[in-house]
Amino acid sequence: MLSYDVVVVGAGGAGMMAALSASEDKDLRVACLSKIFPTRSHTGAAQGGINAAMAYRDSSDSPEQHFRDTVKGSDFLADQDAVEFFTSKMPEIISELDYYGVPFSRDENGRIAQRPFGGASSPRTCYSADKTGHVILHALYEQCLKNKVKFYNDWYLLSLAVEDGKFEGLVAIDIRSGEIHPIQAKAVVIATGGFGRIYWSRTTNAINMTGDGTAACLEVGIPIKDPEFVQFHPTGLASTGVLLSEACRGEGGYLLNKHGERFMARYAPEKMELGPRDLVSRAIETEIKEGRGFGEGMGSYVLMDLRHLGEKKIMERLPQVRELAMDFEGVDLVNEPVPIRPSCHYMMGGIHVSDYRTCSTPIEGIHAAGECACVSIHGANRLGGNSVADVVLFGKYAGIGAMETAKKRAFSGTKKLENEAKQWIEKFKHIRNKKTGINMFSIRDRLAETMWNNVGIFRTEHEMVEALKTVDQLLEEYKDAYAGDPSQTYNMAFINYVEIGNLLKLAKAVTIGAINRKESRGSHSRADYPKRNDAEFLKHTMIYKEGDHYRLDYLPVTITKYQPEERKY
Ligand code: FUM
Repeated sequence: MLSYDVVVVGAGGAGMMAALSASEDKDLRVACLSKIFPTRSHTGAAQGGINAAMAYRDSSDSPEQHFRDTVKGSDFLADQDAVEFFTSKMPEIISELDYYGVPFSRDENGRIAQRPFGGASSPRTCYSADKTGHVILHALYEQCLKNKVKFYNDWYLLSLAVEDGKFEGLVAIDIRSGEIHPIQAKAVVIATGGFGRIYWSRTTNAINMTGDGTAACLEVGIPIKDPEFVQFHPTGLASTGVLLSEACRGEGGYLLNKHGERFMARYAPEKMELGPRDLVSRAIETEIKEGRGFGEGMGSYVLMDLRHLGEKKIMERLPQVRELAMDFEGVDLVNEPVPIRPSCHYMMGGIHVSDYRTCSTPIEGIHAAGECACVSIHGANRLGGNSVADVVLFGKYAGIGAMETAKKRAFSGTKKLENEAKQWIEKFKHIRNKKTGINMFSIRDRLAETMWNNVGIFRTEHEMVEALKTVDQLLEEYKDAYAGDPSQTYNMAFINYVEIGNLLKLAKAVTIGAINRKESRGSHSRADYPKRNDAEFLKHTMIYKEGDHYRLDYLPVTITKYQPEERKY
């Protein structure tokens, strides 16, 4: 049986940063599992940048201001002790990344350049043109290779094994051979990213963002915190949902309705296009709903205009954005405005992290970092540029936490682990041999449709209750799902089958959390409860799965310096 001191699942920014920190202890054996090649992980889609108060472009900026902006952006649902820790450590993390070889864009004095981003009081987003996540992945991968982290690429997490509250290890499939392996570990870091694919094609997320680690944690009794908070990025390409970075607006891009108005003046007169994402997304959808957008139904959109920036600046700062608009929308934004519409981008909620310093969860040995985790520093709405920051910073501390856990913890037994692996082997056989059933992709598509229509940017009780009924029905149908591929090797249909199961479980948690939060806060906007209600809902949602039953609980928010007040931009 494979056996490691620390196993990291996921090789995006959080996973590789965790593997890198854990592997600093040369006595530990550290492995990293990834369902795709590490440098193709979804962190690579983080175009615009990474926030840290370096105070290069604005000497009055400080970690304290970053702290305050983040708490305000979160609509006061973030845990302020964790946010303060995060913002105070970020400048040091940027220096570490610089040292690892991340090719940051530079200003005229050779210092790391910083651009304005939404909801920030100063330009504090460090960047590498519009390929920030991509270059960070490459630098971290090189560092992990240097530290001799053992990579298992094309390996996919199936489940975690916990017996009597003790973590034993995990079960994974080697996609290439189809072999299913139990892997014993003293500590694991789950860093599997978000699950925006519950909205399937109306998301900026890569096709593989299916919440595998989050669902595995839910199954072993770790709650999901605040799943109802789903971020819709204002500027997805209209026809595909592909991301056009917030850097477009940071560099000066405008949003226009069909009357040619910069409509953000109505919604965020001070910040305009650089309001926080929840507010800008609602503004766009309101323009569309009230007949000031272009197109109809799912084909509706507004325009983003970058022409005034000129080709030179666009090519220097936003070359990938230009390429994406050409490839996926057929528009050269040097010459024409580009059609955009909000697209699901990020899950503020995730695996409950009970100690932000180590990213540990309530089960000893299981740590979580990155988008799959909820620390919580983003609360009800994340600021642009705080995600890559979150992944590298908490990835680092999760790695250190897992290293410390592994040093003090002996291996647990393997009974549960071996049983779990046997059950997966049987299941793989059963799915391969199944000749008929319900088409699993129809289940996935109906899930996305109901989530977009009923648990999207604007929400009501009635629509969400309907969505919950549909999700329950789809969970029933999933028991008879048909994958349609009998192969042992490279059976991607089986992987998709497990992924769809994970999406269903997580969509149910999102919907239950959303129905029960009877207020509007950050990204959770309810037409039937349009106001924030601190008296009843200044608390984190906690969703537990016990067998097929989901149980709802709450946890207080940690407030240290900033008392809740009305958010104005
Ligand atoms: O718009 C963007 O470049 C995305 C950044 C983020 O989500 O932090």
